[in-house]
Amino acid sequence: MLSSSSRRTVALLVLGVVMAAIFAADTLTDYAVAAACFYAAVILAASRVLSARGLVRLAALCIGLTGLSFFLTRFGTYRIGLVNSAIGMLVIGITTWLALKMEAAKAAVQDAQARLLRVARASTVGELTTSIAHEVNQPLAAIASSAEASQRWLAQDPPNVDKARQTLARILADAHRASDVIARVRGLTRGAVPERQGFDLNQALLEMLALSHSELEQHAVTLSTQLDDALPPVFGDRVQVQQVIGNLILNAVDAMAEVPAGSRRLVLRSWRASPTRVAMSVRDHGSGLPLDAPERVFDAFWTTKSGGLGLGLSLSRSILEAHDGQIRAEPVADGGACFVFELPIDGGGPHG
Ligand SMILES: Nc1ncnc2c1ncn2[C@@H]1O[C@H](COP(=O)(O)OP(=O)(O)OP(=O)(O)O)[C@@H](O)[C@H]1O
Ligand SMILES: [Mg+2]
Repeated sequence: MLSSSSRRTVALLVLGVVMAAIFAADTLTDYAVAAACFYAAVILAASRVLSARGLVRLAALCIGLTGLSFFLTRFGTYRIGLVNSAIGMLVIGITTWLALKMEAAKAAVQDAQARLLRVARASTVGELTTSIAHEVNQPLAAIASSAEASQRWLAQDPPNVDKARQTLARILADAHRASDVIARVRGLTRGAVPERQGFDLNQALLEMLALSHSELEQHAVTLSTQLDDALPPVFGDRVQVQQVIGNLILNAVDAMAEVPAGSRRLVLRSWRASPTRVAMSVRDHGSGLPLDAPERVFDAFWTTKSGGLGLGLSLSRSILEAHDGQIRAEPVADGGACFVFELPIDGGGPHG
């Protein structure tokens, strides 16, 4: 295989030979033969290997050779030779100009492509960073509030070691959750597929509730659950579905911040929605969804919170749709909001 610089040298040598042949033909044949026009082909071929300045020099050389041929030619009508040489020089000039334009356009396209690629890469990295920040922030916030709680238990006289031990266990569980999320994101960037398997949705919810315990207690939220004990296992990525549940619980807690402490009720239900699907609802008694456009809450970056990213629901919807599931906000009669999501049961979908 030839290197690119030796390929260039070979190309220039071949072009030199072709130019010599054109010069010989132009000089030795009759004035009536407009051989100089073939220099145009040389210019076009050379535009692939020469810089703009090199190409202009080559064009000047071709024009010079055409003039020299004219003076050296001995056959034919002088006037016809003059006209043909002038046409040849014009063709060389126009071809050079077009070749330069073409190369400039090609360079502009290449430049635009490179810029587009950089933008695409930056926005993927940006999106990924935002979503990692969002998902890891949840367990980190829970760790901070559990740590504060355990400090309070230990500061009591006598210290409540039992309670402190329980809070430490929650910190540990939250820390594991954060590292699970990171591991999953790492897997995603390596192109690994999410880990899908059959799992108990009620159990996944109860685990999330255990982790949200201090958050709910701190905000004086009373919890009630109506879980269907006979629920079949669902099929999906357990950690991702737990992220969805966590997002819905956090939103519910935020929405109830403004209502009196005694009315902050969170109701979680699960049931079999159809022979192939299981549903779960997260119902709060908070401020309720915007009346004019409730669907907007699923838009990425749509938020009414000062510290919100507006990503929780849009990420949740992407996760569920990737699971062949869905999520919707249901209208509620007496204030608050109700989010319902559905997932296929294990063995009930096309995967099983
Ligand atoms: N349970 C709810 N009750 C009332 N409004 C809600 C509820 N859940 C979501 N919303 C509205 O939808 C918006 C978008 O929610 P989403 O979870 O996507 O983002 P966020 O909570 O604002 O920020 P973050 O990215 O931290 O989750 C919220 O800002 C809020 O206005
Ligand atoms: Mg949210």
